[in-house]
Amino acid sequence: MVVTTTSLPLFVLGQGVDPHSERGVDCPGELPPASDPALVARARKAKEALGDRLFVLGHHYQRDEVIQFADVTGDSFKLAREAAARPEAEFIVFCGVHFMAESADILTSERQKVILPDLAAGCSMADMATFDQVEEAWEVLEDAGIAGVTVPVTYMNSSADIKAFCGRHGGAVCTSSNAKRALDWAFEQGEKVLFLPDQHLGRNTAVLEMGLSLDDCVVYNPHRPNGGLTDEQLRNAKMILWRGHCSVHGRFTAENVDDVRARVPGVNVLVHPECRHEVVTKADYVGSTEYIIKQLEAAPAGSTWAVGTELNLVRRLGTMFPDKTVMFLEKTVCYCSTMNRIDLPHLVRSLESLAAGQVVNQITVDPETTHWAKVALDRMLALP
Ligand code: 13P
Ligand code: SF4
Repeated sequence: MVVTTTSLPLFVLGQGVDPHSERGVDCPGELPPASDPALVARARKAKEALGDRLFVLGHHYQRDEVIQFADVTGDSFKLAREAAARPEAEFIVFCGVHFMAESADILTSERQKVILPDLAAGCSMADMATFDQVEEAWEVLEDAGIAGVTVPVTYMNSSADIKAFCGRHGGAVCTSSNAKRALDWAFEQGEKVLFLPDQHLGRNTAVLEMGLSLDDCVVYNPHRPNGGLTDEQLRNAKMILWRGHCSVHGRFTAENVDDVRARVPGVNVLVHPECRHEVVTKADYVGSTEYIIKQLEAAPAGSTWAVGTELNLVRRLGTMFPDKTVMFLEKTVCYCSTMNRIDLPHLVRSLESLAAGQVVNQITVDPETTHWAKVALDRMLALP
């Protein structure tokens, strides 16, 4: 197999391995046909056969056909904690994306095996910050004389080696449920934060939750010399935001919010902090996927909600809360394509292989990366 090492590799029909990407893009093996009417029964049988040796985690953006088999569902923070709290499970099947499975491998013991049912389930946002780019950016900060006072904080949605970079340089990981606490901690350690890779979560948290101004934030573009910034801009900034975003949440616009308010009087607008700043400032409520569910749970019957997050979750909210009206904030935004790669045939293949004594699609992080990434993850888990 030819391994491409350019920063923008092209893979024929999705096959190949990109050593610079957070995702595996090669998922070999025979899948059961999606049309097999026995898939649900097969998954159930394999799961029963594995018993307590198996623990299945499901992110809220997973398909219903998969989420029905999750022992626990959650946002990325909750799932990281759940993975760390299951030392008895020999197999952790992670129905989510690659960076989540990597984090589970880092937080579990060597004896435990973490399985990602489709190795091609990566995350386009995580791929927007590669290790080489981040190392280069750090050199830029060193040359500007500010690396010593800068704390790197990476969103969970990043590769294990970016998390390890943060661990090595005195930084931490955060998720959308604890970004403010992580930034409070980071500003106690240093004067500036390099926030990776989601500029929107970084900006929204800094400006809307911590009282920083938009002028305190600069955007570092890894594709431009010096990040596209002068040394003076870097020295004046408090938040150096990486130029990354979520391809799903980044599509909601401020016009979507205006539009739904004009069409639906009294509507509550509830969005994820990966949305752009102008969307979040126009919304009524902002928070992680777990927060979004709790908001709807607590909402009065008869209330109406326009939700700006991934479509699988919004649809599920509609069925979970039939006494409330739940609508999608923008009709042309679609599912997260990589989350959706985990489907019933992939889950069945993983579970049946494990039940037959064959471990497929295992995610392993090398010991050195694990060590430093765990330092950064543990700093997050220890946040007050
Ligand atoms: P949370 O699970 O932290 O809400 O993040 C959403 C997301 O985009 C996960 O990929
Ligand atoms: Fe990545 Fe966005 Fe998909 Fe989450 S929803 S996995 S951040 S592309």
